Amino acid sequence: MVEDSLSAVSITEGLKTRFIGQRVLYYPSLTSTMEIARQAAGQGVAEGTVIIADEQTAGRGRLKRTWLAPRGNIALSVILHPGLSNLPSLIMLASLAVVHSIESVTGLKAQIKWPNDVLVNGKKVCGILIENEILGNAVTATIIGIGIDVNLRLADFPEIQSIATSLSDELGKEVSRLKLIRYLLVEMENLYLALSAGGSPSASLRTGPSAEFTLSTFASLSINSANVLRTGLYEEWRDNLITLGKKVRVTGEDTIYEGIAESVDRDGSLLLRGLDGNLTRIVAGDVSLRE
Ligand code: BTN
Repeated sequence: MVEDSLSAVSITEGLKTRFIGQRVLYYPSLTSTMEIARQAAGQGVAEGTVIIADEQTAGRGRLKRTWLAPRGNIALSVILHPGLSNLPSLIMLASLAVVHSIESVTGLKAQIKWPNDVLVNGKKVCGILIENEILGNAVTATIIGIGIDVNLRLADFPEIQSIATSLSDELGKEVSRLKLIRYLLVEMENLYLALSAGGSPSASLRTGPSAEFTLSTFASLSINSANVLRTGLYEEWRDNLITLGKKVRVTGEDTIYEGIAESVDRDGSLLLRGLDGNLTRIVAGDVSLRE
């Protein structure tokens, strides 16, 4: 059994980041980390503040779904102040940071199902929800919510057993949440800084503490984030997508599309070649693979 109790100190102590995870608000139980993060952002907490809970009683998923988050797993939200034109890249950043963390900490191979579900052996192990706080025409904060099934026994949840998995079920032993969380926060910051430093025009729009960083900041890059810096966040995300080239059904909020997932755009949207030969751009939806 992995000794793995979470606390703000155990997460922040010696964490090699400048701002992501330097302030952690830990709760044994709360409704949803998204909810508390929204309140904290409204009170002006520092960029990079993390809200984390051992248990969520009203976890939220994409497309107005609920998210099951019992103890033993990871449920956290990170508050960021990205430049406007970097907003579409955040789904790429978050899913890649999770993929890199899972692969480095557990040795399992992880892949992304468009737009940002992370799968291991074809089953979902992580969901990501991104919400923006808007004031007038401006985004005042972005909240990235990440839920990872770490030590979930799927046998106890037969209703999701065919589509979901957990790291412990895949490995046959428990996984340290603390190790994974700390790796994830460092990786998110590396990718976030890479995004800002990558020549993106939005670098000049930044408002948070990361605005002052330059390429020289990346003294301790992991091999994975160094790759991203070299090849680009979009390219790395696209190359990790399990979805492309597959026959898929995409369920949006009120429409269902079917076709071949042909490619993805730099803004994160999916380009679907329909049965009639037309190309449709899909901004949000849930993909199921048809073959
Ligand atoms: C999805 O796949 O539908 C997204 C799930 C996102 C779940 C995480 S858990 C931490 C954060 N708090 C929430 O209420 N939701 C996100």
